[in-house]
Amino acid sequence: MPNKCRIVALISGSGSNLQALIDACASGQIHGTIVAVISDQPEAYGLVRAAKQGIPTETLSGAFESRAAFDAALTPLIEAQRPDLLVLAGFMRILSADFVNRYRGKLLNIHPSLLPAYKGLHTHQRALAEGATQHGASVHFVSAELDGGPVIMQAQLPVRPEDDARSLAARVLKQEHLIYPQVVQWFCAGRLQWTAAGVELDGVRLHQAIMYTVDDTNSD
Ligand code: GAR
Repeated sequence: MPNKCRIVALISGSGSNLQALIDACASGQIHGTIVAVISDQPEAYGLVRAAKQGIPTETLSGAFESRAAFDAALTPLIEAQRPDLLVLAGFMRILSADFVNRYRGKLLNIHPSLLPAYKGLHTHQRALAEGATQHGASVHFVSAELDGGPVIMQAQLPVRPEDDARSLAARVLKQEHLIYPQVVQWFCAGRLQWTAAGVELDGVRLHQAIMYTVDDTNSD
């Protein structure tokens, strides 16, 4: 068995996806260790979650004169950890193209929509406003384009007539906690790569995202 994957997580908020990844590392589902958690928000609850597990944390907040200046400060914090994988887990800053290109193939994100639909913010409100009947979340390799890069796995669920943005967000988040650990598990097992040829899982080119279809119509 190769060495455990060294994972650095970047967060801005609650960190429930971070928790799902911490739990999946602890259970052995992911052959990896979260070696550091870095937040751009000092109040992020995810920092508390990390500290409770004894995971080192860093906060990089305050005024930076540019996106590039923030990323230039972030890079040495990451490099000090010698990561095999960087996961964006509710990290709400846009990263510069230089940063993203540096970590190409080692940088994953989870986004609360069925990409390419609803890039950016307020995804649940926008899905409801458009009368979408299906919604969900996507895990993707990160490219320099906002919420871009090849999608690896999606969870799709039906929008209920009674849904509001809050209820929809909660149901999507529950599925995020399943698909993100699954993708990180594949990556850490050496089964998932993004090369010049495209995304490959077990040596087979993924021509479209793996779809996890959820029918939670009759559950809470
Ligand atoms: C999640 O829904 C995640 O998909 C979203 O922020 C939330 C973070 O929740 N990320 C984005 O919108 C990134 N564009 P968490 O802090 O509880 O994991």
